[in-house]
Amino acid sequence: MNILMVCLGNICRSPMADGLMRKKVSDHKLQAIVDSAGTANYHVGGAPDTRMTATARNKGIDISGLKARQFEVTDFDTFDMIYVMDQSNYANVVGLARNESDIQKVELILDLLPDVNEAEVPDPYYGGQDGFEHVYDLLDKSTDIILNKLLNE
Ligand code: 4NP
Repeated sequence: MNILMVCLGNICRSPMADGLMRKKVSDHKLQAIVDSAGTANYHVGGAPDTRMTATARNKGIDISGLKARQFEVTDFDTFDMIYVMDQSNYANVVGLARNESDIQKVELILDLLPDVNEAEVPDPYYGGQDGFEHVYDLLDKSTDIILNKLLNE
């Protein structure tokens, strides 16, 4: 099972989701490709936002080596599950789908958390530090559910 995390810029939310999922896959010695991408090209080649990197580091996760890239249509071939952070990401990714099978790979990541009263992972880019902590908490819970799916395969 190969898993792609997608947000807008690929410098805040999806790198955090990517780092969390990579660590959980590695800790459980599972075979899975984990990666992330942005629907936009603003930050291609850039490192994650330093506020997200610091938040991750405080939780024992190193995302400093990730480099932003843009989502591309061949990602539908490489990945089995494509988790998007918000409705806008969903529309952008599904807009590139070639067929129904591509569309079925795309899921809002917070749909994994029916008990959470939010539908979208909020973009922390223009806010304060607590926004980054909140993104971490939502993505830690979501990636636990994905891990359980992988363990029960
Ligand atoms: P992300 O956050 O989608 O979580 O990586 C953003 C990063 C950069 C911008 C927007 C969102 N931006 O407009 O540059």
